Amino acid sequence: MIIKNISCLATCAGSCPKIKNNLKDAGIINNAYIIIKNDKIAEVGSGDEYKKYLDSNSNIVVIDAEDKTVTPGLVDSHTHVVYAGSREMELPLKLKNVKYIDILKAGGGILSTVNSVRKTSLGKIEGETKKRLDTMLLHGTTTVESKSGYGLDFDNEIKMLQINKNLDRKHPISIISTYLGAHAIPEEFKNNRNGYIDFMINSVIPYVKEHNLAEFIDCFCEKGVYTAEEARKILEAGKKVGLKAKIHADEVESASAAELAGEIKAVSAEHLVSASDEGIKSLAQNKVAAVLLPTTSFYLMLNKFASARKMIEEGVIVALATDCNPGTSPTESLQTAMTFACFGLKMLPEEIINAMTINAAAAISREKEIGSIEVGKKADITIFDAKNLNYLIYHFGVNEVDMVIKNGTIVVKDGELINTAIK
Ligand code: NIG
Ligand code: FE
Repeated sequence: MIIKNISCLATCAGSCPKIKNNLKDAGIINNAYIIIKNDKIAEVGSGDEYKKYLDSNSNIVVIDAEDKTVTPGLVDSHTHVVYAGSREMELPLKLKNVKYIDILKAGGGILSTVNSVRKTSLGKIEGETKKRLDTMLLHGTTTVESKSGYGLDFDNEIKMLQINKNLDRKHPISIISTYLGAHAIPEEFKNNRNGYIDFMINSVIPYVKEHNLAEFIDCFCEKGVYTAEEARKILEAGKKVGLKAKIHADEVESASAAELAGEIKAVSAEHLVSASDEGIKSLAQNKVAAVLLPTTSFYLMLNKFASARKMIEEGVIVALATDCNPGTSPTESLQTAMTFACFGLKMLPEEIINAMTINAAAAISREKEIGSIEVGKKADITIFDAKNLNYLIYHFGVNEVDMVIKNGTIVVKDGELINTAIK
């Protein structure tokens, strides 16, 4: 396959992960071409040189990307895409300024989605999740991290992780699975939080590892949910059996979770809206990726975004994701996250695209296989109907995806799904 005449190719190649000033370098090539062989990128260049392949092989598929922007397939490195039901009934409460944590304490929020998941069959949730993955693919996303955390009891957490595994096999999008049993304290353990923590450590974590149901473990470390000490205990138990650590850190108020992420050398810390200065330093020193979720700050009406500029200045690996979930970020679109990253986090278009590709790949330990357009990497590519990167970010509120290629196969063409049966 040849993609030719690319007006703006953002390769996101070069130093990896990208920090400080390098985050501004999206490896742009104008008038570029890409050669794809099977599922891999075979050559990247500029001008007419691709023509050397045209005579020798008539089976070549040629795609003309004039006036288009081409990027690595987008990587959504933090989602809760597996869930049942929806939470639009919380909207009036939000507008009355009822706090997110207070809705949760009253048995709503995460716990209301837990009720929906417990009542709904694996097959039905899988079907609903597949639709959301289709929407993600249509919006240019080719790899998704997906967390459990709406089951909380044994059977329902395993059900969620099994859905991750099934959909990774059935859907073109690659799914990276995370066990998030520590998303809330379930109602049945309301007066026995240590009992729930012991249950996760002794019963669920070993099973998850043994059955290869997750690669990462996560914990919602936040005032009113899990303390830093509890998070340390849960994440260390996961690390002991070989799960890699992620942390929902300081999303609303600081719980010293960013500091903890550094201390336990987590792969990533996420949200970080209220991370302290020491926390930010700790992330930089320990090479913990900061996954920022600006749509969530907007949707929680926090009137505050994470200190992205400070993090970039300090040398933190900054990634961006949707946080797709039914409560605090009901969107599948990384293009929506682009808008809020620009106007909320004050990130530049080049920084945003790196943060959703190569740095996002680093946040899920996949930077060697995906996240940039370089020879030998997987041919996961998104083509936008935008004449340059600035235009892609500037034009907002619509889906600009023209084509998506996953593992060398066209899965979205003219903005519509095709070949979705092919992995
Ligand atoms: O990332 N903070 C915890 N988890 C999600 C929200 C989940 C929910 O409200 O259903 C988040 O914001
Ligand atoms: Fe989240």
